[in-house]
Amino acid sequence: MKNCSIWWIVIAIFVLASSMPHSQAYLKNEKIKTEVFLSPKFMLGPGSVENKFYYGIDFPSGHIALKAFDAEVVDEAGNSVPLHETYLHHWIVARYYIRKDADVLENNGNRTPRESDFIFVQNGGFCQSNILRQYFGLGSETRRTETHIPDPYALEVGNPTEIPPGYEERWMLNVHAIDTRGVEDKKGCTECRCNLYNVTKDEHGRPLRPDYKGGLSCCYDHAQCKLRHGFEGVRRNLYLKYTVQWVDWDTSVVPVKIFIFDVTDSWKRFNDSTGLRTEHHCLIEYDVESCSDTSLADNKCILTKKTSFTFPTGGYVIYGVAHQHSGGIGSRLYREDGQVICSSNPTYGNGKEAGNEAGYIVGMSTCYPEPGSVKLTDGETLIVESNYNSSVYHTGVMGLFYILVADRVPNTTPFLHGPQEAYKNMNNSAFIIGAIVLLGVVAAAVGYRQRNKSEDGYEAIVM
Ligand SMILES: *[C@@H]1O[C@H](CO)[C@@H](O)[C@H](O)[C@H]1NC(C)=O
Ligand SMILES: *[C@@H]1O[C@H](CO)[C@@H](O)[C@H](O)[C@H]1NC(C)=O
Ligand SMILES: *[C@@H]1O[C@H](CO)[C@@H](O)[C@H](O)[C@H]1NC(C)=O
Repeated sequence: MKNCSIWWIVIAIFVLASSMPHSQAYLKNEKIKTEVFLSPKFMLGPGSVENKFYYGIDFPSGHIALKAFDAEVVDEAGNSVPLHETYLHHWIVARYYIRKDADVLENNGNRTPRESDFIFVQNGGFCQSNILRQYFGLGSETRRTETHIPDPYALEVGNPTEIPPGYEERWMLNVHAIDTRGVEDKKGCTECRCNLYNVTKDEHGRPLRPDYKGGLSCCYDHAQCKLRHGFEGVRRNLYLKYTVQWVDWDTSVVPVKIFIFDVTDSWKRFNDSTGLRTEHHCLIEYDVESCSDTSLADNKCILTKKTSFTFPTGGYVIYGVAHQHSGGIGSRLYREDGQVICSSNPTYGNGKEAGNEAGYIVGMSTCYPEPGSVKLTDGETLIVESNYNSSVYHTGVMGLFYILVADRVPNTTPFLHGPQEAYKNMNNSAFIIGAIVLLGVVAAAVGYRQRNKSEDGYEAIVM
């Protein structure tokens, strides 16, 4: 026990030191640049919804290698806004090329360019066309989910030889936030229950299926969730504050590709006149029915949803994380023989303050396999599994899995991969809270890592 406490002190000092203002959390890479941006302003009153798409947001430019992307909702004074006031349903950042002569003012990011003027840069998979094509994206878990990509890996962007002639690269941000101050049913509003929004038609006026009880179609931009009788509150200005970390591109960087799996994807393979092809059909959301009384009594109320995929081209898994909504109890990506590639589990808050809101998922654990240790082969079958606690009913939940895959490992490893990689570079204002939160996360991570090792011999750093 004594031994154990000494280790905690060592870890505590280490974490504090590595998150000190002006120090480098990434000791081994001093080239990392960090910049903090604010999204265009959005305004929310009690019960209201904003689902905005901002084209041409502020973003580092040039041929660079992205290392991390973190975000949170802040108010006009720059204070973190807790999820029980403004629920962050999701934010998504996508990359696109736009014609240089496109006649749209993008300065405020508020105007959508014409579709014929831009091209989204797709990630590696799997849903069709305009779904899940983001580079980064998270929801309520954003404050405590690690996004850092370990050296020498990164996402290569802004490569001038890849940008079509006459085009330039830009970034789009979608923020979907729900103000739940004063609402009758906070959980119902965050789960987008149609009855609470008094919605029977979608945003485009199309009638919803009678069995559609909740989900994105009911909490569209400017929808209004039901307030407690007589509640009055002010509308306020909010921003998504986002922090981008990157290094300038050089040939020592090993690029990674993004793959996003959706557990609701019901894909089919066709072999017809157009050749062999696979069509994906991603619903993004699903409902969790509440379990029967007998299962409840037996403590067996878990809804497991899974689907398998054929992984197109092989490579090495560098990072993995799942996305779930409240009620989620973990998600896994594994091979046909059952070998787990990544388990990602939610952390629920248990307080009031931003980053620790009770009942909300405030973080998802991530996987950092020892580089080179987890290799996917061409055409390998992978299974994605998403588990929810079904003791109560949920609408509009998600089961996504995001992985980064490198097609090679570097010839020589320039740096030792120390545990410091797993910790966030805290900014100055978040230092005190951050250090405390980090201690909790470290405790969870160390505990989880030990458990993971003894249970299935899998050694990825899981945070
Ligand atoms: C709900 O919508 C219907 C039809 O749009 C409208 O007549 C009714 O007043 C609304 N109810 C509330 C409580 O807003
Ligand atoms: C696809 O169809 C063609 C023509 O019917 C057939 O020759 C080929 O073997 C099929 N390929 C697969 C993978 O089923
Ligand atoms: C599911 O939630 C219920 C009620 O909150 C809880 O009692 C139960 O332990 C949970 N089950 C699991 C597997 O997390």
